[in-house]
Amino acid sequence: KKIVLAYSGGLDTSIIIPWLKENFGYEVIAMAADVGQGEELEPLREKAIKTGASKIYIEDVKKEFVTDYIFPTLKAGAIYEGKYLLGTSFARPLIAKKLVEIAQKEGAEAVAHGATGKGNDQVRFELTVKALAPDLKIVAPWRLWDIKSREQAVDYAKERNIPVPVTKDRPYSMDRNLWHLSHEGADLEDPANEPKDDVLLLITPPEKAPDKPTYVEIQFEEGIPIAVNGQKLGPVELISTLNEIAGANGVGIVDMVENRLVGMKSRGVYETPGGTVLVLAHRELELLTLDRATLHYKDLIAQRYAELVYDGVWFHPLREALDAFVNATQKTVTGIVRMKLYKGNCTPAGTKSPYSLYNEAFATFGEDKVYNQKDAEGFINLFGLPLKVRALMKKQAGLE
Ligand code: ARG
Ligand code: SIN
Repeated sequence: KKIVLAYSGGLDTSIIIPWLKENFGYEVIAMAADVGQGEELEPLREKAIKTGASKIYIEDVKKEFVTDYIFPTLKAGAIYEGKYLLGTSFARPLIAKKLVEIAQKEGAEAVAHGATGKGNDQVRFELTVKALAPDLKIVAPWRLWDIKSREQAVDYAKERNIPVPVTKDRPYSMDRNLWHLSHEGADLEDPANEPKDDVLLLITPPEKAPDKPTYVEIQFEEGIPIAVNGQKLGPVELISTLNEIAGANGVGIVDMVENRLVGMKSRGVYETPGGTVLVLAHRELELLTLDRATLHYKDLIAQRYAELVYDGVWFHPLREALDAFVNATQKTVTGIVRMKLYKGNCTPAGTKSPYSLYNEAFATFGEDKVYNQKDAEGFINLFGLPLKVRALMKKQAGLE
């Protein structure tokens, strides 16, 4: 019997291979997905086999990640608890989807992942598997085995001649992809601690960023970014280009305490350089092109959308329905946004759209021929009527 494991080549997923063989008698097939973690995955081929896997699949899913997960979430304007741009959250359903595809192709009876029993990631992996392949078994070793620390994991690996990755001196739990890099744990577990400067790996600390601003121009078509500084770029290249530019200018650091789905609060420091610029630029364009009612309604669903993504219910009919709504709103979200990046700040520096609803003739503080200021009086009278009626009632009834 076969099992497919989401494999990263790190210590945890490495020891899962012999553990699954010893405890369940499984033939273990490894799957490593390239979501833009910036690591060479080819060396994992040899490593997985040496560690005891019968086979390894390496899947380049970067483009799918951007077009099918990042861009819909960007268009929706989904941000979790006002800060988190969901970098890890929307990568998990994609990785789990690939796991399921390979399990089906291999005729495997189960899949396994290396997420702990205290986090959100286990939920995201497993909800995806349930939604796509209800009959697949799921094995989550962290919830089953006795290994409690890195030291124990190292011992377990050494006893089985599994090469232990050279211990980098980083104490943080990290997750990296094209959109973001997360840091949790160690000194960050106390929200009173300011993150040390060496936490950051993608972003230059703002105070060390250049003393001159950098301007960047992003072109959107129907809510999707297609060019940077006049140059058309594919989805993957577009994000890595913006990561470079924004990272160099100290833009995209998020430091927050968040509510995990599994109950506790946790503290994370997230680097989302290019993503931060895209989210802010996209918002500028919407402010220019969407009417008030649509924009405000969209803001309401953005919150729900963010919860769906965070909670790992990506493959949910509500998300699909919300996507349909969002896509309808994006028809005119086309244009060019210029942003100014300076020492951690990212501010608008000019927005243009052929579908702009901004009409200078109506908005001007100068004299105009289209807006009759006298109309405002009747409008305010009727709009304010309920307030007035209530105030009269209170007076008459002697309330307050
Ligand atoms: N707290 C973030 C989230 O829930 C980041 C999780 C990072 N995951 C990890 N395995 N290091 O999405
Ligand atoms: C984990 O527990 O595997 C990482 C943190 C999380 O999933 O939220």
